[in-house]
Amino acid sequence: MFKINNNYLKLPGSYLFSTIGKKINAFQAENQDKKIIRLGIGDVTQPLAPAIIESLHRAVDEMGDAATFKGYAPDLGYDFLRNAIVNGDYRSRGCDISADEIFVSDGAKCDSGNIQEIFSVNNKIAVCDPVYPVYVDTNVMAGRTGTYDSITETWSDVIYMPCVAENNFAPELPKETPDIIYLCFPNNPTGSTIIKSQLQEWVDYANKVGAVIIYDAAYEAYISEEDVPHSIYACEGARTCAIELRSFSKNAGFTGVRLGFTVIPKDIKCGDTTLHSLWTRRHGTKYNGAPYIIQRAGEAVYSEVGKVQLKAQVAYYMNNAKVIYEGLKVAGYTVSGGVNAPYIWLKTPKQMTSWEFFDYLLEKANVVGTPGSGFGPSGEGYFRLTAFGTYENTVEAIERIKKL
Ligand code: MLT
Repeated sequence: MFKINNNYLKLPGSYLFSTIGKKINAFQAENQDKKIIRLGIGDVTQPLAPAIIESLHRAVDEMGDAATFKGYAPDLGYDFLRNAIVNGDYRSRGCDISADEIFVSDGAKCDSGNIQEIFSVNNKIAVCDPVYPVYVDTNVMAGRTGTYDSITETWSDVIYMPCVAENNFAPELPKETPDIIYLCFPNNPTGSTIIKSQLQEWVDYANKVGAVIIYDAAYEAYISEEDVPHSIYACEGARTCAIELRSFSKNAGFTGVRLGFTVIPKDIKCGDTTLHSLWTRRHGTKYNGAPYIIQRAGEAVYSEVGKVQLKAQVAYYMNNAKVIYEGLKVAGYTVSGGVNAPYIWLKTPKQMTSWEFFDYLLEKANVVGTPGSGFGPSGEGYFRLTAFGTYENTVEAIERIKKL
């Protein structure tokens, strides 16, 4: 008789955004006349930039011609994309990363979930609280998190680093020493960030205690302030302790196209073994590469005209962030984020729990957001709104909230 992976049974509830999706559908079924505005999941609304569309068209035509047709992609990614990434994201920022340290994939969500496979089950992870649920859930599936306490909503073998108003939503170095540290800046869900000297402290700490940092930089395109690092490799010593996850979803609108990459410097070693060699083995065995046409679309992100168009797209969303941030402030809410990130983090009013506020906003304003507690216990009493809606919907949502 087959046996299942019992770790899956330990997972409480369903995936956060699936739970929210079900709630919205139930509400809409009962209120068909209501126009719901969705500022919950961080999904983009603007169409792909013209430079990307042109590149896609060209690549599709190549696939229809025997002379230029492509079969399996190289499992680690086409050189044209890996070189564009290295030049566009790293060398241009003075970061020492080479093309063969880039692993192209179909998105950062998969990579952030899969990367834990190359580590022993005995490693102890440290996460920010609140946190993107994928980091914790995938470690639960792997059997790395111990037992769940439904009262505190925490796992016995996970180190939580609270990110709350008192510390400006920035984690402090943990008292207990972790083996793997998940960091995400600009942060999902709080929209906060840290400056380079703060990130340098993390890199120094990881090198000192022999930990690996898994650094999720999916939102780096939204950084507007000078001193905020776009990559962990801006810090000295990061090549020996940090893996970086990057996405094309938020900077280029690829949520439905799917493309991302992971950077693993060859200098991160456990004894004589490099993490680079393990991920190469994993990628080669389990992955056949992101599609050629999608990688060509990704290449266009780094073209001169693509960069100009995407800068305008990011500015469009950041204008929404401003509308939300300022509108909520006027309405008397306590708000943060939204300056270097497309997420606005607000304190729920009148001591409401995060889910109470979710229901209240859905019923009274027909606006969807994400309950802070869905990201971890320290998110209780908070709520996240995304700037990825259309401008018109964003303005209308804030007007509705102001009238409550
Ligand atoms: C979010 O809303 O937190 C993100 O869209 C989720 C994701 O990028 O997978």
